[in-house]
Amino acid sequence: MTAQLSKKGEAWSARFSEPVSDLVKRYTASVFFDKRLALFDIAGSLAHAEMLAAQGIISAADRAEIERGMAQIKAEIEAGSFEWLLDLEDVHLNIEKRLTELVGDAGKRLHTGRSRNDQVATDIRLYVRAAIDDIVTLLHTLRGALTDLAEKNADTIMPGFTHMQVAQPITFGHHMLAYVEMFGRDAERMLDARKRVNRLPLGAAALAGTTFPIDRERVARTLGFDDVCHNSLDAVSDRDFAIEFCAAAALIMTHISRMSEELVIWMSPRVGFIDIADRFCTGSSIMPQKKNPDVPELARGKTGRVYGHLTGLLTLMKGQPLAYNKDNQEDKEPLFDTVDTVIDTLRIFADMAGGISVKPDAMRAAALQGYATATDLADYLVKKGLPFRDAHEAVAHAVRACDDAKCDLSEMSLERLRAFSTLIDDDVFAVLTLEGSVAARDHVGGTAPRQVRLAIERVRKQLMEQGTQK
Ligand code: ARG
Repeated sequence: MTAQLSKKGEAWSARFSEPVSDLVKRYTASVFFDKRLALFDIAGSLAHAEMLAAQGIISAADRAEIERGMAQIKAEIEAGSFEWLLDLEDVHLNIEKRLTELVGDAGKRLHTGRSRNDQVATDIRLYVRAAIDDIVTLLHTLRGALTDLAEKNADTIMPGFTHMQVAQPITFGHHMLAYVEMFGRDAERMLDARKRVNRLPLGAAALAGTTFPIDRERVARTLGFDDVCHNSLDAVSDRDFAIEFCAAAALIMTHISRMSEELVIWMSPRVGFIDIADRFCTGSSIMPQKKNPDVPELARGKTGRVYGHLTGLLTLMKGQPLAYNKDNQEDKEPLFDTVDTVIDTLRIFADMAGGISVKPDAMRAAALQGYATATDLADYLVKKGLPFRDAHEAVAHAVRACDDAKCDLSEMSLERLRAFSTLIDDDVFAVLTLEGSVAARDHVGGTAPRQVRLAIERVRKQLMEQGTQK
């Protein structure tokens, strides 16, 4: 369908005998949210016009007029003076109508060989691609900030937990690097999704392709796409790339939310492992003593809405027969909100990482409770020749005795320890200390401060390489 903009502006109104009601107009219009795609829409139109001219489908003069008009429209949008009209339904028709106002017939020729169906699919792909690039950069910044925090705390001992119970001593640096790994995979996932985002739908037209001798590869090159979509029905109808993006975004939020949960717990006065700088916290309107970790709490909460958007998009897609259906217009708000939420959250977290202060004494005191070095004692006995299961049993008895005596394993006398195994000598105390325990886990991926430093080196190299790739 070649758009003929009527006087009233609708692209299709000549076919209709009565206008739609105001309610229907509002219900079906998307301009108030899809105007956000305007600059991508213009970029797509310019590439399309360039190709039409190169193929002799429109004249060079028409192309020049289209470029002139689009330059003015872009300036108007950036200046905030562009008038968006609900009557013109969406971003595409608003821009096309203004173009025709500015340059006349050349503007009316722009839509040759194209439909809003392939146009909108192209716009969204350009939008998602730009969002991915921003998100990957922010993940990079956040990883850098967390690595700085890890470096400062490569030797800071804290309890490591399983089942929320003290398990074994670890270093805070190691704990931070766990998140550095997660956010690294998140960036990989985004970049992998980008490959499937970066394909050009234009040329599919409404659904079947077009009768004009278009050059899709040329448009793809102009817009920086790696390839064209190879089936026109698929090109206009599937939003799997947006769903995949939202799934990767949901995983970022999963990691953010786990970290948030920990920050909230650690900042609770009962735990008191860290403090978060005042600029990320708020007080209570009634309890003057309160300082609440609002930022991590909100991030944990906002994770829910990103999950919701993913579910929304999956559900939006599942019932649609090929090819394009108006249902797809509903892809935008969830997508936009996902991008906004993830970008704001990553930005604030990268900043907040520098505002986390660690309380090593509280961490240490907590690590001394709960017999965190019991596994070290068992390993010690194994190294002296006892089978692991027997060592486990001997240490369990020792822990029980400590429980009764209200002391730590390291506070028991050698004589008392030897009651559980005569293999124990006075070299045992080296493994029962927190420092000895963490230092002994000295292999790739282990918590030993030496390994934490090596891991930091590895991450820094990675970050530097990624930084220079840009
Ligand atoms: N606003 C529409 C969308 O977002 C643009 C495509 C509309 N195409 C159509 N034939 N109604 O999907």
